[in-house]
Amino acid sequence: MNEPTSVLCPICAAALKLTTEPRRSLGCAAGHRFDAAKQGYFNFLTGKGTNFLEDTSPMVLAREEFQGRGHYAALASELATLVAERHRADSLEILDAGAGTGYYLGEILKQHPAANQDAVAMDISRFAMRRAAKLPDTLAIVWDVWRTIPSADQSRDVVLNCFAPHNPAEFRRVLRPDGLCLVVTGAEDHLEEVREPLDMLSVAGGKQQVLIEKFAAEGLRHVQSQNLRYSMNLEPADLYNLVFMGPAGHHLSGDTLRSKAENLGRRTVNASFDVHLFIPQA
Ligand SMILES: C[S@@+](CC[C@H](N)C(=O)[O-])C[C@H]1O[C@@H](n2cnc3c(N)ncnc32)[C@H](O)[C@@H]1O
Ligand SMILES: [Zn+2]
Repeated sequence: MNEPTSVLCPICAAALKLTTEPRRSLGCAAGHRFDAAKQGYFNFLTGKGTNFLEDTSPMVLAREEFQGRGHYAALASELATLVAERHRADSLEILDAGAGTGYYLGEILKQHPAANQDAVAMDISRFAMRRAAKLPDTLAIVWDVWRTIPSADQSRDVVLNCFAPHNPAEFRRVLRPDGLCLVVTGAEDHLEEVREPLDMLSVAGGKQQVLIEKFAAEGLRHVQSQNLRYSMNLEPADLYNLVFMGPAGHHLSGDTLRSKAENLGRRTVNASFDVHLFIPQA
């Protein structure tokens, strides 16, 4: 079986086809080939290396556990609703840039009744892509979103970008003219009750305007930003996962964090997200 995909060869930018026999691989006409890892994802960064730190296996596990307990389900559902309201065609091609485990992508796919779904999850972390590779109709690709994104021009209905690096010029290029770009960031008051006691970085103020200007400069018009805020009742294991799944997971000691979380006990913590919607400028 040789199925065309809208994913491009990271070496020569030709279209890639997905082959499943004798093994699952993506190949282009020039003979470049990427075999799926045994966990199902494709690594396009082989031999290239990258300067960015990938999320480690324990960080990705913490994220999966935290999300699995439903604490961010309201955000997933908000994103799925936004997609359903704005994209009514019966096919849906999504790119999730910096997808992590693919949690939000998975919820959108589940809640959107598109007959023809074709999703691409990209992340620099192999451990994250192992998880995302389990989603239906999804190619999970290890890639650095600061580089040229290996997806054809105007090939995506939706670009999703949650708490991950933004590359608006590339998001704009791969979006269809009637596509949408959904960007989620933590608001200034996100998790404010536990930031200091758990040594988390604070969320800088004024970020929203900077983001909107950065996207506008690349031809993505800001349509709306909405804040989603609610309180969560978190136990020490949740607090641990919450910190460890973020950037602090790269340098914190798990044991120190565990005892800090135990000392805090059960807490009511506010989640506060800004969900931004952009569309390509005509
Ligand atoms: C805070 S996590 C968010 C993951 C996911 N979007 C979510 O909300 O659950 C940030 C993700 O961005 C990924 N990441 C960081 N730098 C990246 C890059 N240059 N290219 C692609 N992914 C990157 C990390 O590996 C991590 O999975
Ligand atoms: Zn090629």
